[in-house]
Formats: sequence, structure tokens, C-alpha cells
Amino acid sequence: MVMSSKIRVALIGIGNCACSLVQGIIYYSENDSKNGLWHKSIGNYRVSDIEIVEAFDIDANKIGLDLSEAIFSKPNVAKKYLDVKPLNVKVRRGFLCDELSTYLKNSFKIDDSEPCDMVSVLKDSKVDVLVNLISSGLDKTSKFYAEVAIKAGCCFINATPSLIASDPNMAKIFEKRNLVVAGDDLMSQFGGTAFHKGILDFMHSRGIRIVKSYQLDVGGGVETYNTLNEDVKFMKRTMKTRAISVELPYEFETVAGTTDYVDYMQNERTSYYWIEGEGFLGSSVKFDIYLRTSDGPNAGNILLDVIRALKVAKDEGNFGAPLDICGYGFKHPPNMVKLRDAYQNFVSKYVK
Ligand SMILES: NC(=O)c1ccc[n+]([C@@H]2O[C@H](COP(=O)([O-])OP(=O)(O)OC[C@H]3O[C@@H](n4cnc5c(N)ncnc54)[C@H](O)[C@@H]3O)[C@@H](O)[C@H]2O)c1
Repeated sequence: MVMSSKIRVALIGIGNCACSLVQGIIYYSENDSKNGLWHKSIGNYRVSDIEIVEAFDIDANKIGLDLSEAIFSKPNVAKKYLDVKPLNVKVRRGFLCDELSTYLKNSFKIDDSEPCDMVSVLKDSKVDVLVNLISSGLDKTSKFYAEVAIKAGCCFINATPSLIASDPNMAKIFEKRNLVVAGDDLMSQFGGTAFHKGILDFMHSRGIRIVKSYQLDVGGGVETYNTLNEDVKFMKRTMKTRAISVELPYEFETVAGTTDYVDYMQNERTSYYWIEGEGFLGSSVKFDIYLRTSDGPNAGNILLDVIRALKVAKDEGNFGAPLDICGYGFKHPPNMVKLRDAYQNFVSKYVK
């Protein structure tokens, strides 16, 4: 089989994650020895092998703009770290198969043009990987985009909490078409969930019995505002809580989720933790701690790794929803996996 040395990527949802991802690709393609890049090579692929060739959104503010402008257009609030020259990628009109929540309706205006013929666009541009970065809660739309990927012969990354890679029927269809799918619900590199999982694992490894824990996230940006919608909040909270519970071999009380939106926090997030455990003789171990991070950049390394890993998996004929990729990059993979195991599985297979 002839393997292309470039990975041709299309982004759906030109929001804050896309903004940081595009800047990261430019920044580390110039020089991948700069600080902040987690893994230089995934398989034989460097960051400079990733090319964004198509972009889709539904926001009237972004359609028709070059991607270099769209990533810095309102309501995006992710930080601008560098000047981005024109990329010659126009944002095209995508699809919407769900009713938007009041929070999303308040955040942007839907473009009134017709959706483009996405399958033909993806085929014509020879897209290898389609990345779904749309707002959460749009389950029918995310499923529709996964089906578009299948029709166009693209691998698919689902960063949203909609069930795609963890739906066995969907994973099977990708497998039958010799394609790879990864998801669901991206897990930030050093975000609230990964940090919570890591602390619990450390306490357990030091013999502390965990009794209770919580993680309450507060942030800005449209996606956090969207989480004020009770359905989205419940879904995200369920996924985060399940992702955390897997770290311990016994049941304990835990709650994790976004609790509020603060406009001026922009793309920043604060995660507040409270953890109670028991040590020797039942002695009490308790702490409160908070973590401050930026949402967009926190998605960057994981997306760069997963995009490249999908291409490696496809090159090697490892089709469907590989757990070594899904467990590493997502909060809700097809099977729940501990943070440490997921990392080791991923590194042993993909990191050169
Ligand atoms: N670190 C992180 O930021 C992080 C972590 C975990 C999961 N995620 C998930 O990644 C996704 C993107 O997050 P974000 O912070 O970039 O969100 P965002 O709100 O900044 O951007 C979402 C973008 O999707 C667009 N969009 C909405 N509906 C669409 C549709 N039907 N078709 C095409 N485009 C559409 C919006 O116009 C917007 O540009 C969310 O689902 C979020 O839950 C992000």
C-alpha cells in the first residue's frame, strides 16, 4: 500500500479548540523542539505532516472567511499566540440536525446559506481525518457528521460527548469500511478530569482509602455557557464522573462537572477539588486544591496525537475504534480505562 507522508485534515466547528489547534500546527511545524509539544513523533508522523485542508461551521460570522480569520472571530475567545497568515482554506457551511439550545442561540447566528455537499468536498480534497469539534449536545448532528465521514472514506475524531466511537454499531461500520474512529468526549491533556484521575491514582498507590471527592469546574467561552443547559450539564457530568470512578477498584462517592459560567474568564477554567480519604487507623486525610488552565490549548496536544495515531492505525490496518487511541485521548472510550494504563498503551504503540 502507498502511504502518504502528509495527513490531510478537515475541521468541523471552528471554535476555541480549533483556534488553538491551528496555531499549534503552525507553531510546532516551524520547529518541534519548542516547549509545550508533548510528543514530537507519533508513528513516523511529525506535526509538520498535518495539513488542514477543509473547515466547516454554521456560524454566519465564520462562513466564507479564511480559516486564519475565522479562528479569531467572535464568539471565539481562545488566546492569540501568533499571527496566522492566510491558509487558503475557506470555512464552508456545515449541517445542523438538532434544535440549538437557548444558550447556543444566544451565542451565534446560524448562516442562512445552504449546507455544502460535504461528502464531495471531503472526497475532492482527499481528506484523511475529519475532526468533529462542534458544540456539545448536538447528538444527531455529530452522528450525521460521522456518517458523512464514512461516505467520504475519512477517519473520524469525535471530541464531543455524543456517543459515536463508543457506540459498538457505529464502530463496526467504520471497521467494515477500513476506517478508524476515535472518541468520545476529548480528555484535555492537563484538565480537570485528567488531574482528578491522577490524584486519586496517586493517593491509592500510597495506600489511602478514598471516601469522597468532587471536582467543580468554572469557566468562560461558549462551550461552558452551553453547559448551563441542564441536559448538556447532566451528560457531561455523567461522563466525567464515570471517567473518574474507574481509577479506584472500589466504589466511592464522587461528583465531577462544570458548575458555572463566568463570561470574563474567557477561555480559562478553574477546577476546584475537594478530596477526603482515610489513612492508618482511619486517620483523616483531606484537601482542597484548585487548578487553573486554558481550554483551547489543553486540547492541542491530544488532538495532534490522536490525528496522527488515527493515520498510523489506518496505515497498519487497525480499523474500528482502537482502545489504545480512544482510552488515551477521550473521557468516554468504548471501554473505561485507567489514566496510567491508557497512557502506557498509547505510548508503547505510537510514540517513537
Ligand atoms: N479542552 C477542550 O476545550 C475540550 C475538552 C473536552 C471536550 N471538548 C469538546 O470539544 C468541542 C469543541 O469545544 P470548543 O471549546 O472549541 O467549543 P466552541 O463553542 O468554542 O466551538 C464550537 C464551534 O462549533 C460550531 N458549531 C456548532 N454547531 C455546529 C454544526 N452543526 N456544524 C458545524 N459547526 C458547528 C460553533 O459555531 C463553534 O464555532 C465541544 O464539544 C467540547 O465539549 C473540548
